[in-house]
Amino acid sequence: MNASNEAARGTWERKAVGQDRANGAVAGSPEYFERIRAYRYGYETPFIIETFRYSTMKGKRVLEIGVGNGIDAVEMMRHGAIYTGLDITRNHLELTRQNIDNNGLSDQLAGLIEGDLMDTDIPDRFDVIYSFGVLHHITHESDYLTKLKSLLSQDGELRIAVYSKYSFFNAYMIVTWFLRARGRSLDDWRSQTAEHSEPGNPVTIKIRSRKDVQKTLEKSGFRVVRYEKRGFVQNYIPVVGKHLKPNGPVLTALAKALGWYHCFTCSHLSENK
Ligand SMILES: C[S@@+](CC[C@H](N)C(=O)[O-])C[C@H]1O[C@@H](n2cnc3c(N)ncnc32)[C@H](O)[C@@H]1O
Repeated sequence: MNASNEAARGTWERKAVGQDRANGAVAGSPEYFERIRAYRYGYETPFIIETFRYSTMKGKRVLEIGVGNGIDAVEMMRHGAIYTGLDITRNHLELTRQNIDNNGLSDQLAGLIEGDLMDTDIPDRFDVIYSFGVLHHITHESDYLTKLKSLLSQDGELRIAVYSKYSFFNAYMIVTWFLRARGRSLDDWRSQTAEHSEPGNPVTIKIRSRKDVQKTLEKSGFRVVRYEKRGFVQNYIPVVGKHLKPNGPVLTALAKALGWYHCFTCSHLSENK
């Protein structure tokens, strides 16, 4: 199996992404999803719904790559999306299905697909392809992007978030690695810190400049039509940080310079779609 897929399964089949944020609630229970949701939209990434314009998804066919706990799936469906999700792990797909069921949204579920996109035959075309915090974990990202382009309708949009090199969090990880973990590889340390993977068993993690990501997107036939740098949280600033609004002007301005996420919206590059 492909190395990044193997690593992803090794980490996330055992423990769902962000599971620690549920503070011990049983995985799949309403409290579990509610706690992860509150952390996601109330603290860590409160910009998601606006930046990725969920309000435009009513009646649209949306494909999500890398579904996690289905928090965004449910939110997009609440905004009216007809949803398909694809993930390499069964664990995340089962949690996503549970979350969708708990919210009575199964009518808007078009499909949940387990596996690697490259091994999957998807006959449909999508108005929006969405992927938050996923493509940087895939070594064969360029192949993924080329295939995603073929799945995107003529006027469709690719909306993605990936990690940023020039960010507070990346600097934090480099400094803490230098001070505390220099016997280990930086990638292993970053994977443990950012993804909560087991030491010595990292997931693939690419941390890139805006320019690098944009080049990769363009090579795969996409044109960037919107860009935002986001993801600067209260806890980065000792003492006063907690008094700042998670989605307010100060943290948003700081994110513009040092946020952890590149948020891209892309269309087809050429008229020859
Ligand atoms: C860091 S998590 C992000 C999950 C979710 N989008 C979120 O923001 O919480 C990465 C997700 O991508 C999935 N994943 C990793 N490699 C994948 C691949 N090759 N194809 C599809 N999904 C993959 C993982 O199982 C996991 O659900």
